[in-house]
Amino acid sequence: MNSYVNMGIGALLGTVFVLMSVSIASEGLFHSEVPEKPGFEIAAAEPTEGGEPAADAAPAMVPIADLMATADAARGEALFKKCASCHSTEKGGGNKVGPNLYGVVGRPIAHLADFSYSGAMKEFSQGGKEVWSFDHLNHFLLAPKKYIKGTAMGFAGDKKDQERADIIAFLNSKSDAPLPAPAK
Ligand code: HEC
Repeated sequence: MNSYVNMGIGALLGTVFVLMSVSIASEGLFHSEVPEKPGFEIAAAEPTEGGEPAADAAPAMVPIADLMATADAARGEALFKKCASCHSTEKGGGNKVGPNLYGVVGRPIAHLADFSYSGAMKEFSQGGKEVWSFDHLNHFLLAPKKYIKGTAMGFAGDKKDQERADIIAFLNSKSDAPLPAPAK
């Protein structure tokens, strides 16, 4: 009698074992669809990756020549208020927190002997070979810390194309020899 019980239990366990195996196997079948998922996820993630510019890629910009064609120095003078706490544009006006900007358009970058520029700004100037062109100013004023990583200029940047062009036109007017606007 005892052995019958044992056999019964044995059979039962056997059945359970078989059922478990089947269930594991069928789960395996079920899960065989899973490998397709990552591929789908990558495809889904692509639009975001493709849509955003890569971190180090320069954002697409309206050419500076186009912006300068409609720039206005008088508007720029009013806009320069956001720079005036740190910069003078007067000839002989001296430096403030930032260097004097009289004649800065076309001037070699980090040029003033009596201003202590950051290492980043000095490096960017390549020993004075690089000058403040309309284009450099446009990029720098859009995002100072992105364009010259490590600059000491504590200004977040001006995202508005026309405002930057107006400010550059104003800066260009504060000069002994204003430069002609860049050709289109
Ligand atoms: C909070 C202070 C601050 C504000 C606001 C600021 N700047 Fe500056 N700026 C600086 C400092 C400091 C430097 C020197 C940066 C360095 O050495 O890295 C500088 C450098 C510059 C230079 C380079 C000058 C040279 O001699 O090479 C230009 C051009 C300039 N600023 C333009 C502007 C304009 C235009 C604005 C307003 C839209 C502005 N800055 C707003 C502090 C400021």
